[in-house]
Amino acid sequence: MKVLVIGGAGYIGSVVVRELQRRGHEPVVYDNLRTGHREAVPPEVPLVLGDLADRDQLATAFQRYAPEAVMHFAAFIEAGESMRFPGRFFANNVASVITLLNTMLDHDVTRFVFSSSAAVYGDPDSLPVTETAFLRSTNPYGETKAMVETVLRWLGELSGLRYVSLRYFNAAGAADGVGEDHSPETHLIPIVLQSALGLREAVTIYGDDYPTRDGTCIRDYVHVSDLAQAHALALDYLTAQERSLVCNLGSEQGASVREVVEAARRITGIDFPVLMGPRREGDPASIIASSQRAMEALGWRREHSSLEEIIASAWEWHRTHPRGYASS
Ligand SMILES: NC(=O)c1ccc[n+]([C@@H]2O[C@H](COP(=O)([O-])OP(=O)(O)OC[C@H]3O[C@@H](n4cnc5c(N)ncnc54)[C@H](O)[C@@H]3O)[C@@H](O)[C@H]2O)c1
Repeated sequence: MKVLVIGGAGYIGSVVVRELQRRGHEPVVYDNLRTGHREAVPPEVPLVLGDLADRDQLATAFQRYAPEAVMHFAAFIEAGESMRFPGRFFANNVASVITLLNTMLDHDVTRFVFSSSAAVYGDPDSLPVTETAFLRSTNPYGETKAMVETVLRWLGELSGLRYVSLRYFNAAGAADGVGEDHSPETHLIPIVLQSALGLREAVTIYGDDYPTRDGTCIRDYVHVSDLAQAHALALDYLTAQERSLVCNLGSEQGASVREVVEAARRITGIDFPVLMGPRREGDPASIIASSQRAMEALGWRREHSSLEEIIASAWEWHRTHPRGYASS
């Protein structure tokens, strides 16, 4: 199937592009390279340099490549930044997606896979969090994802759109020579590994007085390869089913910040320094997914999401690409 992958030069999108190729699909990447990397796109995959907000260029890409499905990864992703610049987030993560969806429908393309996020839940009342939990994001980033899901629901009911919205928990790890290269980097595992490489002075743990097993926050890390499998399965779902789907993608196991640090020390063999800092406002103590729905509806199976495998694969990437894509 021809798949237009918006944001396919970014971290998760570029791993999904390779999975699509492996399964015989024909991905085309559309990306403005604002946070993505040209080198992350396989040379044989067409790369359209364009912004999602550019209606004319989007329409040209639909005419030229005639995609049968669209996957959307193109968003600003940093929750803290969304507290400082909410307008930018609503413009890029919501308004531009509406432009995309309208362009799809104009071209009779009705299959859509969306990168949603655990951030839609905020600080959930009970764990593991299921898709029926109340949505109450604690920052504009999470709210943008919830808003797009609302738009999807209405376009699904009234305009014939069919979609799978995948609420990822913490994407991590590396695969196929593709890894995480965000700037600035705010995700724990790359930060820890950059500290192991001596690229940062220390890792700061924000709070060790949470009601968790070791006092530090617990998050659910899922390997980017397992996310890529879920995207391929979502395409199959949209081919076989007339329905849409919203589902979590997580490992269903939490790791605390301290456990990530200790696992990274063990795997790298480097005893990098760790500092204790105060809590950050808005950080929930624990968030862990139930991924039962993805397993049942998509047939999703996690194969790489143990903390060991996630960190070992990420270490391989960071060790060989200490400055990310600029290293190659
Ligand atoms: N990384 C995570 O842990 C995580 C967790 C939950 C959800 N998500 C979601 O997954 C998606 C991908 O995340 P990522 O970590 O790969 O981010 P990323 O920044 O590496 O990739 C995003 C890509 O989209 C492109 N892009 C952004 N705005 C664009 C626009 N207006 N027009 C064209 N291209 C544009 C960027 O250049 C980049 O290549 C995002 O939607 C994010 O919200 C990520």
